This record gives sequence, structure tokens and C-alpha cells, in this order.
Amino acid sequence: MYYVGIDLGTSAVKLLLMEGTGQITNIVSKEYPLYFPNPGWSEQKPEDWWSAVKEGLKELTKDCDKSQVAGISFGGQMHGLVILDADDNVIRPAILWNDGRTQEETDYLNQEIGKENLSKYTANIAFTGFTAPKILWVKNKEPENFARINKIMLPKDYIAYKLTGSFCTDVSDASGMLLFDVEHKCWSQEMMGICGVHASQLAKIYESYEIVGTLKPEVAAELELSEQVKVAAGAGDNAAAAVGTGTVGDGMCNISLGTSGTIFISSKNFGVDRNNALHSFAHADGKYHLMGCMLSAASCNKWWMEDILQTTKFAEEQAAITDDKLGNNHVYFLPYLMGERSPHNDANARGTFIGMTMDTTRADLYQAVLEGVAFAIRDSFEVAKSLGIHIEASKICGGGAKSPLWKKIFANVLNIRLDLIESEEGPGYGGAILAAVGCGEYASVEDAAAKLVKVVDSVEPDQELAGRYEERYHKFAQIYPTVKELFPKIS
Ligand code: XUL
Repeated sequence: MYYVGIDLGTSAVKLLLMEGTGQITNIVSKEYPLYFPNPGWSEQKPEDWWSAVKEGLKELTKDCDKSQVAGISFGGQMHGLVILDADDNVIRPAILWNDGRTQEETDYLNQEIGKENLSKYTANIAFTGFTAPKILWVKNKEPENFARINKIMLPKDYIAYKLTGSFCTDVSDASGMLLFDVEHKCWSQEMMGICGVHASQLAKIYESYEIVGTLKPEVAAELELSEQVKVAAGAGDNAAAAVGTGTVGDGMCNISLGTSGTIFISSKNFGVDRNNALHSFAHADGKYHLMGCMLSAASCNKWWMEDILQTTKFAEEQAAITDDKLGNNHVYFLPYLMGERSPHNDANARGTFIGMTMDTTRADLYQAVLEGVAFAIRDSFEVAKSLGIHIEASKICGGGAKSPLWKKIFANVLNIRLDLIESEEGPGYGGAILAAVGCGEYASVEDAAAKLVKVVDSVEPDQELAGRYEERYHKFAQIYPTVKELFPKIS
């Protein structure tokens, strides 16, 4: 049997075809536009996702025995607000996870409703990218759109709805809405009241591996797939990536270097970071996790290379960053190109280079970009350590994990071993695994991950280099608190 994993990302959708044995037989990627209509805003058209998914599915399955495609599931970009009217029309472009327009609504939630209450209702506080502040923003700024809302969805759930007609979501993605009581895995009555939302506007909640429906006859016909193909709820992309890297069960860690950068720690038990700097979310394996999320990770690399240097020769550019330079850079970069989520929760934060001199080179600046992202992940890693969580090793996935240099920088900045797995296709592979579990191919997510995910190599930190990075990190950590008052004045 074949299982399809759909990774609905921010720059593209990546679709992956997996055999029941875990073997990946095909991968297809389809890009779609990302719109920044105002500084700090970030939108996409759900209709573009749907066209790309359909095109991608056709291409993905064109050479396989289509009768053998048994299940489909997802890893989806989280927190995005998709709103449909009573006739299922998309009311406005989706407001994405890295959109910073809701500072006013976020302040209202954190200050007027209060962080303590939010944490009691949902296990989390408000961040500008979360869904509830966006609902309040539409209510305040676009009341005519708010009045038309019939269904509120997350990005991947829109695709599940188009495929099956089932109005559904899963526990991991719902966790990022700030409308969901994470501990008890149900919608929060208090948050619905605060946001002016009715239960009928919210989706039915499933565990990530549960089946939500089968393909609608007209969709099956268009895709030339069977109407019996089952669709499992899927997960937010980070939880799906965790499944795809075997980060399930208790105390496992995964770092994802996609457009965003995350550090994800799986846990058997529900727990909350007392300062709410890390998110406390449900996991796709039926349990829970803590997560720190930086808004610009691999996107800093892409920005520096493609927009600033105007080159796509990543390996060539990184070759100039030789071993002797690691841990010796005097230039620092704050990677806050879209503001920052964890741990600063500051939509006004901005990208910043500091420390240049006349002898600073192009390579030093690029090195600072790569190091700045690693230091920013270390900020969340430090929060986890302060909660008594001990991390000795982590998996790593996402586009950024393809760079040996960046992996070396990460291993030494964090001073932990990085385990590399056979497939770096985190969310897509996780999505396919969730589909396989939903279809009964494996007994549980943990069982599937244990059988399918293989560590093939590791990057060990070098103690001398890790020592130099330790010193650098403590300098990096002083920059944001020193300049943060400036950001609202210059943004
Ligand atoms: C997680 C988050 C991002 C997006 C990226 O909280 O906002 O990782 O899910 O797609």
C-alpha cells in the first residue's frame, strides 16, 4: 500500500509517497506565492494551496499503481487563519503564522485578559502569530468579514475539508490557536467567549492519526484515485516533523530548520513552562510537547543569499567559512526579520548586524547570519534547561539541515550531539506515517516511528569549539535586551 504525506509549507507544498515499509518512492514540490501587503504582514491564498495540492497529487501518483494508494495525511504550517462563509467561499486571504499585525490584540489578551488566565484556559499565552489574536483583529478591523464567518480553519484543515468535506482539525495544530484547552484536548469555552466565536464555527477535533473521512467522489475522480482513500487528520508541521524524525514518546528533541526554526521536546505528560516562553501543545503521538519557535531561520539564509548577495550558490558561499573562523567571529546578527516569537514575543524586533570593522568580510557576515539563527535557537534551549529538561542529543530536519556547516555550528552552539536520520523530509514523512497509522498499517505512532525512522549519522560537538561558542552566545544574549527599546522607534 502507498501513503501520501502532504507538507503544506510557507514557500511550497511538498508531497511524499511512502510505501507501507517506509520506503519513499516519490517526492514532488509545488510553490505558491507569499504576500507581504504591509511590513510585518504575511498572507497566502488558500485557493493557491488547493490548486498546488491537486497538481502535486496528480504528479506524485502518476507512475504508481493508483489502486494501492490507501491513505493521505498532513503536516501543515500552523496558526494560519482561514475563514469561510456559509457557501464555503474563502472570505479573505489566510493570515499566516509569521504575521505580526496583531500586536494590539495580543497586548489586549496578555494584559487585559491576563497571561495567567490565558495559560489557565489554554496552557499558553498570546503571540501575534497565534490564531485567536487574528480572529480579534478581523473582528476589530474587518467587521464585515467577521460577520460572514461560518467556519474557522487552519491551513492543512482547509485541504482536508476540500478533499473529504469533513470539517476537522487535530490536537497538535488546534493547540496553536489559543482557543484550545491543551490539557483536556477540547475547545475552551472562555476563549470562545473572549473571541466572539461559536462552537459551530470550530472544527471537530481528532487525534492526528485518526481518520476524518474518505475522498469526495468528484475529488477522487479528478485525481484518478479510489473513493476509498482514507484521510487522517494530520498534525501541525512541527509535530509532524517530530513524528518523521522519531521524536515521539518522552524526552526526545528535534530541531527543525525551515522558514521558521523550532526546538521541539516530546513529553509523556502535560506540562507548562511557568513563563510561557515555550509553547505547551498536544503532540501527534497522542501525548504532549514543549516547543520554542523562532520566526526566521532558514529564511534568514535564503534572504541573505538570494535577496542580498543575489546568488543561489549556497555551498560555494559557505566554503569561505573555514573551520578556523568558527567560534571566532566578531560580527553578530539578530535574526528577527519578521519580529520574534520564542522567547522574546516581540513583533517589533528586527534583523540587526553588529560588530563590523573595516576588515569584516562577506564571509564573516554570512557566518554571523548562520550563527545568529543557532544562537536564537539556543535562547529557547536555555529556557528548556531552566525547566530542568536535560537534552543530550537532538534530531535535526528541514531545508537548513542539508548544510554540513550549519549542522556543525548548531552542534557546537548547543553543545549537544545531532543525530541525522535517513530522510530529512520531516513533516511530509511524518504526515505519511500518520496516514499509515490511521489506515492500520502500524499499531501506533510510536510503533511506526520505532520501525521506520533510522539514525544514519551524528555530528558530535568539539569541546574546544563549543567552549568558544559558549562565550560568544553569552555576548549574543546581551544584544537584544540592549537594543530592544529602539525597535518600536525604527520599525
Ligand atoms: C510554529 C510555527 C511555525 C510554523 C511554520 O509554532 O509557527 O513553525 O508552523 O510552518
